[in-house]
Amino acid sequence: MSDSEQRQLHVPYREYQSQNSTSPATIVETEALVDLSVATPPSLSSAANKSLLILQCNDDSSEFLPDVEFITNSSNDPNITIDSPGIDRESQPLLGRLELDVTFNRFPDDPQFSELVWQAECAIDNGIVPERIYQGSSGSYFVKNPSGNIIGVFKPKDEEPYGRLNPKWTKWMHKLCCPCCFGRSCLIPNQGYLSEAGASLVDRKLGLGIVPNTRVVKLVSSTFNYPRIDRQKARMKQAIMDQFPAVGSQFKRIGLPPKIGSFQLFMDGYKDADYWLRRWESDPLTTKLARDFQLQFERLVILDYIIRNTDRGNDNWLIKYDSNLAKTSPANSEVKIAAIDNGLAFPFKHPDSWRAYPYHWAWLSQAKLPFSKTTRELVLPQLSDQNFVQDLCDDLYQLFKQDKGFDRHHFDRQMSVMRGQILNLQQALKDSKSPVQLVQMPAVIVEKAKGNGAPKLFSFSDTFTQRFQNKSPFFSWC
Ligand SMILES: Nc1ncnc2c1ncn2[C@@H]1O[C@H](COP(=O)(O)OP(=O)(O)OP(=O)(O)O)[C@@H](O)[C@H]1O
Ligand SMILES: [Mg+2]
Repeated sequence: MSDSEQRQLHVPYREYQSQNSTSPATIVETEALVDLSVATPPSLSSAANKSLLILQCNDDSSEFLPDVEFITNSSNDPNITIDSPGIDRESQPLLGRLELDVTFNRFPDDPQFSELVWQAECAIDNGIVPERIYQGSSGSYFVKNPSGNIIGVFKPKDEEPYGRLNPKWTKWMHKLCCPCCFGRSCLIPNQGYLSEAGASLVDRKLGLGIVPNTRVVKLVSSTFNYPRIDRQKARMKQAIMDQFPAVGSQFKRIGLPPKIGSFQLFMDGYKDADYWLRRWESDPLTTKLARDFQLQFERLVILDYIIRNTDRGNDNWLIKYDSNLAKTSPANSEVKIAAIDNGLAFPFKHPDSWRAYPYHWAWLSQAKLPFSKTTRELVLPQLSDQNFVQDLCDDLYQLFKQDKGFDRHHFDRQMSVMRGQILNLQQALKDSKSPVQLVQMPAVIVEKAKGNGAPKLFSFSDTFTQRFQNKSPFFSWC
């Protein structure tokens, strides 16, 4: 094997281990990254850039080493390349990988999403790094796959609008000059990434299908905003590693620290809702597409109302629509909504009247129509089921409790607001109200009655109390 036939691929290392011969293989993932030197089979050498590395499970439980095999890329993308040209990876530290718990970014219930994050990790390890999104108020990044295509949007917790490392100077000025109006007082600060993932969870549970899949992951990239000290430490450790590998190998981590944040699937071909809503004023949709849009719009309303989104401007949802196709082939034409930027939701109290954070969709003509039968049939049975609602709260608890600043009391208050929203929504759907009528209903809080503070999340003996914000309870049930 000549040197020219060798390629080095930096891939996060997964070790596949079969626990016994009958059970399916489980993945045991190490805390390290392996730098695999692999020989390109002669038959594939001309297509080396089109190859993908596959780590295969070996059924023999005594054999922990993965089989490494190349397959030619079956995708249609001829530009796929694991390596990134012009980047000298020899001199690049393995960014934070020694510390990164590689089991963190794996979602056994969602292999497709795991694969997506895996692609992002491979790309970063090969120098195809996330790119900061210049619009917007926080440090958000377009994440790419090894082919350089955008596949996701990553929002690190510490670069959120009021996060410690927010890179946007406008937010820094805001914090400095106007501390009294700093942030939203009804939201738990710096948990936007959980809100993003929480919105996706609600969407999945209700089967709305409008929030691009979003989950909490950890990523590390030199393009993220790090304090200078972190970069200096990483450089110094790398120098020690290069000069004295025995000493360097004692370090817990080489490279920059991984960041926790939300990772959302990138929606290709979508545009800000504002763009299409304006276009449709002069060039309206066909009756069929207007009806399709109405159904999608109602799902957006349901999502926003349940999570009590405080930031739903028309720039924070996207629409996919092809006006040419609508004219040339109306039967194949479709319209889709994607609800992005859900980081400012799940308040622990209803917003104050002086800063109401209205839902901007309430001013659209679609909001004046009563909820359709289709939408009512989709969500009403679930929302009327107390077990479903409790299940939703439990799932959100599992998600939210991973934050370092998690506070059970605050979480309970968040759920009280959400339960109140669900109660109103349920009533509005039963009465065939419109979204405009829904948002005019008085805000309700549904709290677990005090005194039965059992440590468990839920018991059938739990009593809930419903009350209007700032008013005493007037109704309760068991
Ligand atoms: N999942 C996605 N799919 C496609 N495009 C996206 C996605 N998420 C974000 N974008 C694009 O990136 C832009 C900025 O995203 P987003 O609004 O979520 O960021 P932000 O930094 O939280 O901004 P802000 O809170 O100030 O609105 C969006 O306007 C949209 O064009
Ligand atoms: Mg936005």
